[in-house]
Amino acid sequence: MKTKVIKVNPFHPDQEIIKEASDLILKGELVAFPTETVYGLGADATNSNAVRKIFLVKGRPPDNPLIVHIARHEEINEVAIKIPERVYELAKRFWPGPLTFILYRSQKIVDEVSAGLDTVAVRCPSHPVANMLIIQSGKPIAAPSANKSGRPSPTRADHVLEDFKGEIPLILDAGPTLYGVESTVIDMTKDPPVLLRPGAMPIEEVEKYIGEIVIPDFARGYGKYEGKALSPGMKYRHYSPNKPLILVEGENKVAVIKDLLKENPRSGLVLTKETATHFKDHKEMIIIGSKENLYEVAYNLFSSLRAMDKRNVEIIITEDVSEVGIGLAVMNRLRKAASKNIRA
Ligand code: TXA
Ligand code: MG
Repeated sequence: MKTKVIKVNPFHPDQEIIKEASDLILKGELVAFPTETVYGLGADATNSNAVRKIFLVKGRPPDNPLIVHIARHEEINEVAIKIPERVYELAKRFWPGPLTFILYRSQKIVDEVSAGLDTVAVRCPSHPVANMLIIQSGKPIAAPSANKSGRPSPTRADHVLEDFKGEIPLILDAGPTLYGVESTVIDMTKDPPVLLRPGAMPIEEVEKYIGEIVIPDFARGYGKYEGKALSPGMKYRHYSPNKPLILVEGENKVAVIKDLLKENPRSGLVLTKETATHFKDHKEMIIIGSKENLYEVAYNLFSSLRAMDKRNVEIIITEDVSEVGIGLAVMNRLRKAASKNIRA
């Protein structure tokens, strides 16, 4: 299959291009499209065969459910049932945007989307291209991040092409995504609600409206979740470059990174600009932003891991940032991506 990449204006998407994409969706094909978080790999959420293609092409374990994307708030009533009042309040405040709710699933959404669970993940993205694609196709669109299962999520069309060239018919290229990490996922069927995945929407902001949200250890990216996974995705390896990634956390990280470099000079460093000042002479380095601006770090996170993976290095070394705001999402991704986590 030839993979077509079409450039599309992120602010004023060309109607013709959106039509071409939505025709594919309606035919049961897959289309990669930009959202404000990362690129998604979309299919009609009401078409079992189409949704199965997502799992096949991604190599996604069949028990890891997908997020359903809608264009207007009201559509939440078509894809979910028994919706608590506070979900409407949150939707009013935060949608469209990078916040996903776990709710009870309506019959309209096929089993495959939810991997057989009686719940469904729902989000209303704010990216104009995503929004227009959903409206034009007239269907809720199921879409995971458009990466091969286990790989860093795609924040640019190039990343999608890297993973899926020849396997999907169309990629809509609207340039780099705004946040660079995925949406925040909250289980609203629980009381108090439970954070399943920290993301672009800071959990502190959401708590201002509905009070305490439970933050389990796995949401911080720790450990493997034992037993029946609340969010089945959490038990799999995620976001990882092909080369071993070492995450160094804590006060003495500079000293520890120096030791690691002595052991293996052919390491690539992915660091904040503050820490990078201690390694000025090291050639293979990518600066992911300032620890004073974690939005910048989130924006560059996945693309930096992908870029360093391609350089001539044997291992990749990176560091922690503060777990405040979007920093919680960054740390969740890094801990899950790392093959080794060192406390310094
Ligand atoms: O920002 C995003 O959320 C992006 C863009 C494309 O919208 N999508 C995304 O999808 O990150 P994905 O499939 O990579 O991650 C979805 C997460 C997984 O951790 C999955 O386990 C969880 O949401 N999830 C989906 N449905 C669920 C359900 N019914 N119950 C619990 N967790 C669920
Ligand atoms: Mg993903």
